[in-house]
Amino acid sequence: MFSSRTGWDLTENRLTSLLAAKRQAGTHVLDLTESNPTRVGISRPADLLTPFAQAAWLAYEPHPRGLRAARQAVAADYARRGARLDPDRVVLTSSTSEAYAFLFKLLCDPGDAILVPHPSYPLFEYLARLESVEVGGYPLLYDGAWHLDPAAVADAMTPRVRAVILVSPNNPTGSYVKRDEAERLLDECARRDVAVVCDEVFADYVFADGGRRPATLAGDSPALLFSLGGLAKSCGLPQLKLSWIAVSGPNAVRDQALARLEIVADTFLSVSTPVQHAAPALLGRLQELQAPIASRVASNLRSARRLAAGSAASLLEPEGGWYAVLRVPATVPEEERVCALLEARNVLVHPGYFFDFPHEAFLVLSLLPAEQDFVDGVTRVLTEL
Ligand SMILES: Cc1ncc(COP(=O)(O)O)c(C=O)c1O
Repeated sequence: MFSSRTGWDLTENRLTSLLAAKRQAGTHVLDLTESNPTRVGISRPADLLTPFAQAAWLAYEPHPRGLRAARQAVAADYARRGARLDPDRVVLTSSTSEAYAFLFKLLCDPGDAILVPHPSYPLFEYLARLESVEVGGYPLLYDGAWHLDPAAVADAMTPRVRAVILVSPNNPTGSYVKRDEAERLLDECARRDVAVVCDEVFADYVFADGGRRPATLAGDSPALLFSLGGLAKSCGLPQLKLSWIAVSGPNAVRDQALARLEIVADTFLSVSTPVQHAAPALLGRLQELQAPIASRVASNLRSARRLAAGSAASLLEPEGGWYAVLRVPATVPEEERVCALLEARNVLVHPGYFFDFPHEAFLVLSLLPAEQDFVDGVTRVLTEL
């Protein structure tokens, strides 16, 4: 009766069952996987939603790419990051996940493939498979800093690859795609007629400045390039459901992509009108909305560094984003390690294998939890090693 695309193994994994049992028993668990910014005690301006009370916003004004004023605000945000874009090169979506779904419809036939970084976040498998798209990987390398080797991406190419996904900074490694890496990769993809999708949702959360890290790849590109962003991370407002795709590349292919993307978007018209009206005001408050999140993740990162120093774990230094990765002794399998931490110490962390690390043993922590919870949680993790 059902499609093979939805033929998932729905049996709960051990960690999920354990967590459900803990929660049912009323046990307080320190959740170091929490990455929902609305659940970690970050205050939001009280008047943020006031504009939504405007009666004029009740009018339904569908536009497949999104209301022009909203797209202008998005283009102005790219200008802040150094890229000049015509607002007509922006298409609004309700989430970044939806942006991926639209792009896979635009670029891929069933059985075509995309390349994603390893490690990276697990949703790609779902997003791709739901569009009947296969997922291949290319490695990110760590030697004290993270690198992407464009030659390794080229090695992973097959004739069915239609797009290379970059995530900058990446979830969970926190690594940016460096300017020289991006240039080589865009040239290679242009040569092969392969598109590039650069997910920049965390781009404003930077831990260390460095000229090699572009704030966005949008702008001029030799390859067809889609840059993704959204309010969920840039403003910490996932509940408002507004994201976007900015299209770059040689004029002819870029215009064709936009014309087709417009029809994909028109088929769904998924972005609510009020959030589009609110976009200029919300993006106008970007710094105010980002500041408490940036300060939380920076403070937790400092704690992670301090606590890991002199422990059996080492921190894989992130360059930006909302996550930190600890390398821990591979004396027990990751799965056992995270289950034991939850069982015995009531602390929840993600195992590296969820994110396709090339080998064990890594633990992935969100940097969003309240500072004291983060310190207590990391201390519990480290004393168990
Ligand atoms: C790198 C990255 N891109 C996209 C998303 C999804 O964003 P959205 O909530 O806008 O779909 C996530 C969610 O965690 C993410 O980590």
